[in-house]
Parts: sequence; structure tokens; C-alpha cells
Amino acid sequence: MKIVMLGAPGAGKGTQAKMIEKKYAIPHISTGDIFRANIKNGTELGKKAKSYMDAGQLVPDELTVDLLMDRIAKEDCANGYILDGFPRTINQAECLEEALSKKGEAIDYAIDVEVPDENIINRMGGRRACLNCGATYHVVHIPPKTEGICDKCGNELILRDDDKPETVGKRLDVYHAQTQPLIDFYTKKGVLKEVDGTKDMEDVFSTIVNILGE
Ligand code: AP5
Repeated sequence: MKIVMLGAPGAGKGTQAKMIEKKYAIPHISTGDIFRANIKNGTELGKKAKSYMDAGQLVPDELTVDLLMDRIAKEDCANGYILDGFPRTINQAECLEEALSKKGEAIDYAIDVEVPDENIINRMGGRRACLNCGATYHVVHIPPKTEGICDKCGNELILRDDDKPETVGKRLDVYHAQTQPLIDFYTKKGVLKEVDGTKDMEDVFSTIVNILGE
């Protein structure tokens, strides 16, 4: 099962993708997490990606597409995967489609997690992220057991640089201009499924399970 998660920054794509990963035993692949790990490790890719991410811009396709293609060619992707944050442009979607069609494959579901912009601004300010294991929390909705500490690995939780209010506004603009057109793209492919992301995260997940099947 090959799934693409769509939705604005902070809509809950990562939260739902981790739940899907656990239930269906297919890997959750987040290009944002891959870039953040590279930044943390001080790699060349991380250095290049950081300036774009901090400005709320997309990392250029030439740094993103090959990285994703290499990742989905790995053995753990043989039974499928959940792509979170990729594709983000029509060009990325077309590259993915071309690579899959060469193997007679295609995306099975594009799940669009719908949340209005005004809810997003609230969510982002409350999000806390673990840069060590990728877990995310929310100070009100999903607090960690100990404030500021990751339940899973014990590392410190941070407010992501790009979650500061001035950058969130920019990310939303970029989303509407460059990523929202993918909703049409996947509607035309007949695989788009919309879910109401304003509901409680367990309710959102139940809707997704109804779509994917038990
Ligand atoms: P990325 O890491 O992909 O960020 P994003 O798409 O902006 O998405 P987020 O991770 O911010 O949000 P999410 O939808 O996963 O929400 P979450 O589940 O955490 O990308 C970051 C940057 O990297 C980009 O701006 C770009 O520069 C670059 N990049 C990445 N991929 C790229 C690509 N393909 N091409 C080019 N550039 C790329 O939830 C948000 C918060 O809400 C959390 O606190 C969570 O706990 C809470 N929450 C979740 N669900 C609910 C709910 N139902 N109710 C209440 N609270 C909830």
C-alpha cells in the first residue's frame, strides 16, 4: 500500500502517518524529518536545506527528488510506505509517478488532512518536536509525560525554528501556491480521499482506517 499524505503544514500529517505506520507496518517517510536529521548532523545537504526551511520556503526539487527516490528503493519499502511531506510540487508528483510507472506501480491513496489556516496557527505554536527520534507533541492536546522531555527517547523537546509565527504564515502561503494544486492532481488520478483534520486525532485516524480497510 503506497500512501501520500497531503495537507497544510501542521494539519496533522505526521501524527496520522505515525499511526498508520504502526497499524499497517509500512514505513513512514517524512522528507522534513530527513532534512532535520541532516541539519542536526551538519551534513552538506543539511546546510543547504536549512536556509530554505528557516525561511518557510521549499527545499529545491534537485535536492529533494533523488533523496526520496533512493529512500523508497530501500528494502523496507517493498510492501509500501507512507510519504509525509512529499510530493510538495507538481514536478515532484510527476517525478514520483514516472518512477513508479516504470515498475508498473502507482500511488494507492492520497489522504488530504483538511484543517483551516486559523486552526493551524494555534497548533504550530504549541507543537514540540524531538529532533532525536522525530516524535511530536502538543503542549495542550498531546503533552509529554514530563514537560520538555520526549517520552520515547528522553531527549529535549524544542519549538522548531520554522514553527515561529512569522514563518508559519510564509509556509501557509507556500502551501497554497505550490502544494494545494496536488489535490487536483490526485483527484484526477482517482485516489484522493479527504478527511476532516479538525477532529480529535483518534477520530481522524478512524476515518483513515475506514478508507484503508482494517
Ligand atoms: P515538514 O516537516 O514536512 O513540515 P510540514 O509539511 O510543514 O508539516 P509539519 O511537520 O509542520 O506538520 P504535520 O502536518 O506533520 O503536523 P503534525 O502531525 O506535526 O517540512 C518542513 C520543511 O522542510 C518545509 O517547509 C520545507 O522547507 C522542507 N521540505 C520538506 N519536504 C519537502 C519537499 N518534498 N520539497 C521541498 N521542501 C520540503 O501536527 C502539528 C501539531 O498539531 C502537533 O503539535 C500535533 O501534536 C498537533 N495535532 C496533530 N493532530 C491533531 C489533532 N487532530 N487535534 C489537535 N492537535 C493535533
